[in-house]
Amino acid sequence: MTDKLIIFDTTLRDGEQSPGASMTRDEKIRIARQLEKLRVDVIEAGFPAASNGDFEAVRAVAGTIRDSIVCGLARANDNDIRRAGEALKDANAGRIHTFIATSPIHMEKKLRMAPDQVVEQAVKAVKLARSFRDDVEFSPEDAGRSEIDFLCRILEAVIDAGATTINVPDTVGYTMPEQFGGLIRTLRERIPNSDKAVWSVHCHNDLGLAVANSLAAVMNGARQVECTINGLGERAGNASLEEIVMAVRTRRDFFPCETRIDATQIVPASKLVSGITGFPVQPNKAIVGANAFAHESGIHQDGVLKNRETYEIMRAEDVGWSQNKLVLGKLSGRNAFRQRLKEIGIELGSEEAVNAAFARFKDLADRKSEIFDEDLQMLVSEEAGNHEGEHYKLVSMKTHSETGETPTATVVMGEGTHERHAESLGSGPVDAVFRAIESIAGSGAELQLFSVNAITGGTDAQGEVTVRLKKEGRIVNGAGADTDIVVASAKAYINALNKLYSKLERAHPQV
Ligand code: KIV
Ligand code: ZN
Repeated sequence: MTDKLIIFDTTLRDGEQSPGASMTRDEKIRIARQLEKLRVDVIEAGFPAASNGDFEAVRAVAGTIRDSIVCGLARANDNDIRRAGEALKDANAGRIHTFIATSPIHMEKKLRMAPDQVVEQAVKAVKLARSFRDDVEFSPEDAGRSEIDFLCRILEAVIDAGATTINVPDTVGYTMPEQFGGLIRTLRERIPNSDKAVWSVHCHNDLGLAVANSLAAVMNGARQVECTINGLGERAGNASLEEIVMAVRTRRDFFPCETRIDATQIVPASKLVSGITGFPVQPNKAIVGANAFAHESGIHQDGVLKNRETYEIMRAEDVGWSQNKLVLGKLSGRNAFRQRLKEIGIELGSEEAVNAAFARFKDLADRKSEIFDEDLQMLVSEEAGNHEGEHYKLVSMKTHSETGETPTATVVMGEGTHERHAESLGSGPVDAVFRAIESIAGSGAELQLFSVNAITGGTDAQGEVTVRLKKEGRIVNGAGADTDIVVASAKAYINALNKLYSKLERAHPQV
């Protein structure tokens, strides 16, 4: 008999806490649909008490998703739990996830509460959450640095109060696999009512051990793992979903459990999350990196050609690498376009939105003979980004670069209701364009990251550019795509400026 391992995806909540990764309501819906297709068991859609926007995003995901449980995070207080309960009202299956810190340093320095008060508040929170939902998860934040006796006491109390899942977070990514596995085993053995709850883990990757710690916990009885697509998340991120799922699947002989994930949806999910958040995937990233299944050395290639299992433990197509289908071309009509968007889970609300996206598609198809799903995803992301009350808009641009000459750029940009024009020199065409844009916007932001990736293969592929800007402690990511990477760079820079300009204020659950 193999147990079921519940996959709890927190890309839309912990992933979103990654600086610069915040997502709009529509972006969350698109990712949630893909997670549902991936057959994730639980989707943590956000922290409803953070802001009205976050509340609406969780509510929209809850109203859209039918086949996965939708979860909302709440600190252990009345207001947060009521907001989460309301946001989940339309969910087919909804879960409230409430938490409070339990390590001595967090209780004393952050909460300024005595351990007895923490237990009392946790119990009260779980009881209130149960009045909204039968499915309630409780997390003792910073469990990895909490005292074992106190953990046993508070967890026994919250299970008695009605918590159905107990999630043990290694919030700061401090523990070692053997130690973390031992912690799960000890908690399950010492807590008298431990069999009344599902045991879950939530590991951060500060020491690069999030996946190893999660798997060690699975070997010691954890039956839910919290993870994110591409390992996105606070600081160094969370355990990566694709690595957990494929480890358990590839080593069926070792793990006593299995997931219900449709692994062929992993790569499309990875690309979607990376495109929407502007967090590129490193080429050597396990499972979803561009090189994960590439064999460079002659010896490896020879072995793989004779028998793929000499060097391959998984098949690229099993995790969705072969899904890169040619879908549409220059002659495709509006209906084919709309139908394909539907098939990949994109619904453009209004007829105007379909018309605008179709016009962009035609424009792209004039420059690129083959249009893939990834191109469509990017096109729709850009279209969605364009509607959010943009302050800055790229009207036109021109660059000149020639060997032995200093590159120049001319940019015409909309700023509010005005159209402005600037020229600049630069060390390269991208530098010249950024300087011209900056001379119009005058943001004074620091450029922290500039990266270019090809969305699909071929020299006519669209370049996907990510620009990360920092200003006064706030970090934003901008993304842009175009068959001309200098134009893509300008779009990405302007997208980041618009995000800085929008100044969306939201609370962080753990601060
Ligand atoms: O890392 C953490 O402790 C969390 C909790 C809210 C579960 O994200
Ligand atoms: Zn976390």
